[in-house]
Amino acid sequence: MYSTTSSLSQFSPQQSVQNDIPKGQLKELVNLELMDLRKRYTKASPASMLKFPYSLMLAEDDNGEIVGTLGLDFQILDKKENKFKKLTSSSISFLETDYEEPVVVLSNLAVRPDKRKLGIGRMLLKEREGVVQTWGYNSIFLLVDSQNINAQKLYKKCGYKAVFEGEGTCVAIGAVGLRTQECVNVCYKKVLRGGKGSGAIEMPNFGEMFSGLFRRSS
Ligand SMILES: CC(C)(COP(=O)(O)OP(=O)(O)OC[C@H]1O[C@@H](n2cnc3c(N)ncnc32)[C@H](O)[C@@H]1OP(=O)(O)O)[C@@H](O)C(=O)NCCC(=O)NCCS
Repeated sequence: MYSTTSSLSQFSPQQSVQNDIPKGQLKELVNLELMDLRKRYTKASPASMLKFPYSLMLAEDDNGEIVGTLGLDFQILDKKENKFKKLTSSSISFLETDYEEPVVVLSNLAVRPDKRKLGIGRMLLKEREGVVQTWGYNSIFLLVDSQNINAQKLYKKCGYKAVFEGEGTCVAIGAVGLRTQECVNVCYKKVLRGGKGSGAIEMPNFGEMFSGLFRRSS
């Protein structure tokens, strides 16, 4: 059972990489994942400090094992440059520009390989979209590596539209260790029906880490 950020950090890297990855690199990936989870979903995150909601959904099977994750957090969208900036505790200055907007971003989507193509990814997206609407937002964004065709098929099937592409960095398994490499990220957006606004600054409530844990039998 994954119940802490530390143990959860082992989930995603194990789902996303081949089994033959050297142990040292797997450990590095787990550490990166741990830092990412802490930055996005804990009470020490910039989102929390700036009073934006955030939450990470876990899908479990009947044995309480995690089979999927999908998180929501905030980034600042620069609508002039078409790029995202990370929210930081000093990001409050974005309020002074009319082309920068805090937007809800999907992150950390992963489904365990033996549970893929069963509709779990689709179900996680649907659940997250409902949460975003309760936060008062009517749109949702995500970034995906342009090479990740399967994930893009899922997003398109669920009503997401590509809105721009931009350069980014990806972590790759190298001959000796992990390395970062340049990659092209595609930004997808979905407009949700019934949301109250796209960029409200005052948030009605806070997400809790792992809020809304739910079960799915499979
Ligand atoms: C991408 C991922 C989350 C999909 O999860 P999933 O639970 O298998 O997706 P679903 O079963 O809900 O699929 C829904 C639709 O997405 C598309 N899709 C998903 N996986 C696909 C695949 N491997 N090949 C082709 N289409 C696929 C299909 O259109 C599918 O609809 P269909 O079953 O009616 O054909 C999963 O493959 C994964 O964890 N990949 C590794 C991590 C990753 O890439 N995360 C995304 C980071 S941006």
